[in-house]
Amino acid sequence: MQAFTNRDGQLFAEGVALSAIAERFGTPTYVYSRAHIEAQYRAYADALAGMPHLVCFAVKANSNLGVLNVLARLGAGFDIVSRGELERVLAAGGEPAKIVFSGVGKSRDDMRRALEVGVHCFNVESVDELERLQLVAAELGKTAAISLRVNPDVDAGTHPYISTGLKENKFGIDIEQAPAVYARAAALPNLEVVGVDCHIGSQLTSLPPFLDALERLLALIDLLAAQGIRIKHLDLGGGLGVQYRDEQPPLAGDYIAAVRERIKGRDLALVFEPGRSIVANAGVLLTRVEYLKHTEHKDFAIVDAAMNDLIRPALYQAWMDVTPVQPREGATRNYDLVGPICETGDFLAKNRELALAEGDLLAVRSAGAYGFVMSSNYNTRGRAAEVLVDGAQAFEVRRREPLAELYAGESLLPE
Ligand code: LLP
Repeated sequence: MQAFTNRDGQLFAEGVALSAIAERFGTPTYVYSRAHIEAQYRAYADALAGMPHLVCFAVKANSNLGVLNVLARLGAGFDIVSRGELERVLAAGGEPAKIVFSGVGKSRDDMRRALEVGVHCFNVESVDELERLQLVAAELGKTAAISLRVNPDVDAGTHPYISTGLKENKFGIDIEQAPAVYARAAALPNLEVVGVDCHIGSQLTSLPPFLDALERLLALIDLLAAQGIRIKHLDLGGGLGVQYRDEQPPLAGDYIAAVRERIKGRDLALVFEPGRSIVANAGVLLTRVEYLKHTEHKDFAIVDAAMNDLIRPALYQAWMDVTPVQPREGATRNYDLVGPICETGDFLAKNRELALAEGDLLAVRSAGAYGFVMSSNYNTRGRAAEVLVDGAQAFEVRRREPLAELYAGESLLPE
């Protein structure tokens, strides 16, 4: 669905004009659409209907409590990578039994808390983590359900974005080593092997890499069965891409249909960990033009959002669409959209043909994933507000960060 549409010459989020949101809550502000989030989640859940499954939203993509709560109400599970994300999910009403715990650096405290609340599964990324989890679980007298995150070494040559599924990166356990590590896990008394997990990368725009990885994991599952280790669920991670510009990523429904076809006849539950594909296009970053600066070489639109609010363009040279909220007539110029931060890398977009005037509102599109969550206080800038739109209503789900809070935890040296 299209959450953001043009109506009467201006951009709306569902039934609310973005100009009204800017008026009421100020800028910069992240604006999310509840209906879009729900539709994207349902695309996964509907395609999995009739078989055991969990759709675990990757909290790292957008961890706002309001957003998590929208998903929790639909019965979503959650993929977390830290104690902090665990607490957020619980605060948002998520069910512990539907949480999978990923990440290469789980501390003993992380493990303890996750065992206490009873998460569905730990996605274990190394032998040492396995041994540590055994110790922590034994101390608590609990059993930890585990999957191993396997690194299927899917060919990056043909699929340039799948960088996390390759042998040379820090994630997962080499698929060749996996049978031995599973044997070790099965021998540890406080662990219960339940699944196989992988996540081969993010913003994938075609199915073949996912299906290559799937074939390798199925072969591993067969090998484990021959070893007497029965795998109950297969977790294929996240990674489905979205349209930022002209990408044509597969639909979740088509992806899942292809997976279901390949696991036919097996007694396997499916787990997915989508992040971006649920929330990216459910959000925009709303920002206002502070100044227009025309130099001999370049036209700059200096806006009130900056790289601390949205770092994807600066960090990944990510292209994000920018649209005026109330488009104006008149001559366009080729603008770089830059923020107030004192760095040349502080840009949100480059070379955009726009007709602008000081005070205009702009929407940076597809900003619902890896937007606010990656923001910082660089240059002592408070973080943006977040607003969740539900039909004709807009709710502030995070207030703008007050300046005094930025240094509230700091202190002067004693006299
Ligand atoms: N599961 C695991 C274990 C992950 O590491 C990730 C993302 C996901 C699930 C969710 O993947 P998604 O469905 O969102 O592709 N900050 C970067 C993206 C980093 C993704 C990290 N891992 C960006 O802004 O593009």
